[in-house]
Amino acid sequence: MSACDQPPELIVYGCASHKTILHMQQIRHEDKKISLLAFLAQRSIKIASACNGKGLCQKCNVWFNSKKILACQQTLDSLSEALNGQNDSCRIVLTVDYL
Ligand code: FES
Repeated sequence: MSACDQPPELIVYGCASHKTILHMQQIRHEDKKISLLAFLAQRSIKIASACNGKGLCQKCNVWFNSKKILACQQTLDSLSEALNGQNDSCRIVLTVDYL
């Protein structure tokens, strides 16, 4: 069973700016199915990409749970599932080095 029964919260933190770039209290269901790269682009958050999300260029790295992930190969749904069973499991925190 998930430790969190409510829609997750999302925080995108920029390392270069030392600022919170995006903070959403709840993620809409329809937004959980698209790639993280597309989701962030829809909110004018530019993540490096040279292959249009095909998973080839390896430029769309963001940090999640102390690991680098490819934003084009993940959805918020998959990140939510990765949080299951962990502390603070209702919060997805992403960090981007150059933002
Ligand atoms: S956009 Fe190229 S690997 Fe993600």
